Amino acid sequence: MLDAVRPLPPDAILGLIGAYQRDPNPDKIDLGAGVYRDSAGETPILAAVRTAEQRLLASERTKSYVAPPGDPAFIAGVTRGLFGADHPVLTGARVGAVQSPGGCGALRLGAELINRLRPGTPVWVSTPTWPNHEPLLGDAGLKIHAYPYYDHDVHTVDDDAMLATLATLGRDDVVLLHGCCHNPCGADLTRQQWDAIADLALDRGFTPFVDIAYHGLGDGLDEDAYGVRTLAARLPQLLVAYSCSKNFGLYRERAGLVCAVTPTAETAAAARSQLNSIARGMYSMPPAHGAAIVGHILGEEELTARWRAELADMRGRLLRMRRLFADRMAQRGADFGFIADERGLFSFLGISPAQVERLRDAHSVYLVGSSRINVAGVTEDNVDTLADALAAVLDT
Ligand code: LMR
Repeated sequence: MLDAVRPLPPDAILGLIGAYQRDPNPDKIDLGAGVYRDSAGETPILAAVRTAEQRLLASERTKSYVAPPGDPAFIAGVTRGLFGADHPVLTGARVGAVQSPGGCGALRLGAELINRLRPGTPVWVSTPTWPNHEPLLGDAGLKIHAYPYYDHDVHTVDDDAMLATLATLGRDDVVLLHGCCHNPCGADLTRQQWDAIADLALDRGFTPFVDIAYHGLGDGLDEDAYGVRTLAARLPQLLVAYSCSKNFGLYRERAGLVCAVTPTAETAAAARSQLNSIARGMYSMPPAHGAAIVGHILGEEELTARWRAELADMRGRLLRMRRLFADRMAQRGADFGFIADERGLFSFLGISPAQVERLRDAHSVYLVGSSRINVAGVTEDNVDTLADALAAVLDT
């Protein structure tokens, strides 16, 4: 059997990491994989994380198994931050939450739960969406469909087209939504659009599945949670996949959480037991370290304040780099003002695949073929090199 195995091409996003590393050009620029970078181009360990890690190292007494649903302090801290401590779904114990290996693990657990309950359920994803949504949801057995989302011509959400498609769905459908910092386009839903989606979900009966992997990196922790909180307040049920990779800088530690918000406390407990059994059948239980760090930070006022301040710095830098890039392109006669209006790590440049290739081959600027850039890769030091390269490519 294994003699017939054939290699696959590298992942479209992760493959860029190796290609960038191999490039000897000292002026190369990495706008590829979605990892936060500071003004020196580094992905630092947050000070709050360092402190938590040191304390955990000093106090840890065992490496025995954690309980199957994961670390209770982590689950309590993340769900409070996500929904808000007084949200009725928390006070009513209507959230069945299970720790997962990163946001990907959370998406997969949620998809497996849906497929266990109703095999082959249609799941509707935005056009465009993060390419990994398709295998994460589809390989679990869900059937992928697309709803219109980003209008490339005007760089905003095409809400008429989106809502018209969602209005055709029914009780058997699941709709994947990006909680904030849409990946790949950076165009987020407004409060009115979230409200309209909640109206439609109530009216049509479809189940939202919110992927929130950049909480706090858009407009703020409360602002970025508006969609999740609104849907949870108004609907009997939804799923949420949460990632701590970006907002805690814990990428390789794989700290995530899946939440099944259900109509009653009994169904929430039942959903948790199903999620536990799905995890048990795939990898038994999640890694402990990243979740222990997050649980420790969120369980302590002073560390939480430090983490919030560090998160605010990251968010502020992303917004500054968005404006700086748009300004430098304006100086070169090109209108990229929309980049300053979008949020999170990602935006499309809106150039062709051939132009993306030229940026890479002639200027050592690395970005995804769709022309998605990671704004965190822009720095005060490289912005003019980048703007010159892009201006040169726009002329070809
Ligand atoms: C991205 O979209 O670049 C990140 O979420 C990293 C990944 O796993 O694709």
